[in-house]
Amino acid sequence: MVAPTIPRVNEPKLIQQISSTLDFKRFLDNCFKQYGDIYFSKSFGNSEFLTVSHPEDLKVLFSSTYKVMEAPGAANRMFEPQLGENSVIIQDGERHQKQRKLMMPPLHGEGMLAYGEQICELTKQTVSAIEPGQSFVGRHLTEEITMKIILRVVFGIDEGQRFDELKTLMSAWQNMTGSPLSAMLLLFPALQKDWGSWSPWGKYLRLRQKIYDIILLEIAERREQNLGKRSDILSLMMSATYDDGQPMTDLELRDNLLTLLNAGHETTATALAWALYWMHSQPKVKQKVITELKTADPSDPTSFYQLPYLTAVCQETLRIYPGVMFTFPRQIVKPVNLRGYQVAADTYVTPCIYLTHRREDLYPNATEFRPERFLERKYSAYEFWPFGAGSRQCLGQVFALFEMKLILATLLLNHQFQLEETKPVVPARRGFLMSPKGGVKMRLVV
Ligand code: HEM
Repeated sequence: MVAPTIPRVNEPKLIQQISSTLDFKRFLDNCFKQYGDIYFSKSFGNSEFLTVSHPEDLKVLFSSTYKVMEAPGAANRMFEPQLGENSVIIQDGERHQKQRKLMMPPLHGEGMLAYGEQICELTKQTVSAIEPGQSFVGRHLTEEITMKIILRVVFGIDEGQRFDELKTLMSAWQNMTGSPLSAMLLLFPALQKDWGSWSPWGKYLRLRQKIYDIILLEIAERREQNLGKRSDILSLMMSATYDDGQPMTDLELRDNLLTLLNAGHETTATALAWALYWMHSQPKVKQKVITELKTADPSDPTSFYQLPYLTAVCQETLRIYPGVMFTFPRQIVKPVNLRGYQVAADTYVTPCIYLTHRREDLYPNATEFRPERFLERKYSAYEFWPFGAGSRQCLGQVFALFEMKLILATLLLNHQFQLEETKPVVPARRGFLMSPKGGVKMRLVV
């Protein structure tokens, strides 16, 4: 029997790139409707990518038994301006695995639990700057909280002039690529021209240099200190060595710190802004969360982590708009058959998280926010997978869920908020993320 042909998006490359940049959700929904759950598209980069989202295909592709797919660092070059050429995201092979191992401990287990009280404290401190009756943008609040937390986890401190400066610079830098139109700067290398400090790319590079200077100064100062007692990621990375006994260079340290600041801050802030939106647009859900939170032990913030309904709310938030729509690109290394479709070696693949999460066969009425679905059935690692899979699976996934639950618990137990949106909030591209358009307008009641 002849294998069926995999469909190709039937539009010129430039049109695909522009429409996916301006309205990613619509582009993906249309492709799914027209071509189904496996198709070739040219919506980013120079290559053609195979978009896959069927759980059965994902299981075959990510299987460690068949080893049909790799996660080459070179395929992530488009992230280089944001993260630097030494970032873990751009490495592969042994160096990639080793860097992951060095960064992991503070983001898991005991290392992570130690941050529980600080997460609650930093949340209280940040929200206290809002007056009762004052309106605010949900995403701005959650960004401020997650930025303080990631600075504390990564550098071990969150106070002082240097960190205020870094916080301000990072926000300004990320805002430069925050709208669908300005995101083009990152997505189209042809626009990356430095024509002085007034040109968009010139401004982008100059802001980045200021951030680099601060990080390198911090590294230089830390070299003078005794790192033995410190448990933050910077100190751990500075103390660790590769198998050949060499430590990470300053530039490797700098790029990986920036990677963690980038990857660990806006992603979680976006998910939290969505969670606030969904809970306040469905008061019954919010009430159920608050009732459950009251059963936990407030003196032990980690007790919030185990609550089943709060967990389901976080899962449903990450399902419906997963924040990160795709995993990093992958490459097929040996021919593979996906439900009858023959895929050749060397094909580039973009596994799409968003499309899996919108499948009606897995999630009936998929556009509806209904946390109960996660209490009614268990989803496999390829049916619900907001953090990707395989060798590049999100390094911060456990930490992100821990952080989300503790921040939401602290906000809801201590305050009352009101939604100030008059229409349903829709997603909009923010850099590489699927963020709530307008950031979710809210008001602090008390
Ligand atoms: C709700 C929040 C978050 C979401 C939805 C998210 C999602 C993702 C996704 C989809 C990937 C790509 C996985 C793949 O290609 O298979 C990824 C990778 C990554 N994430 Fe996250 N992430 C979040 C929070 C965090 C946090 C808090 C950190 C660190 C503090 C972090 C650090 C990373 C790193 C370093 C990678 C690259 C791993 C590698 O290349 O080996 N993320 N994340």
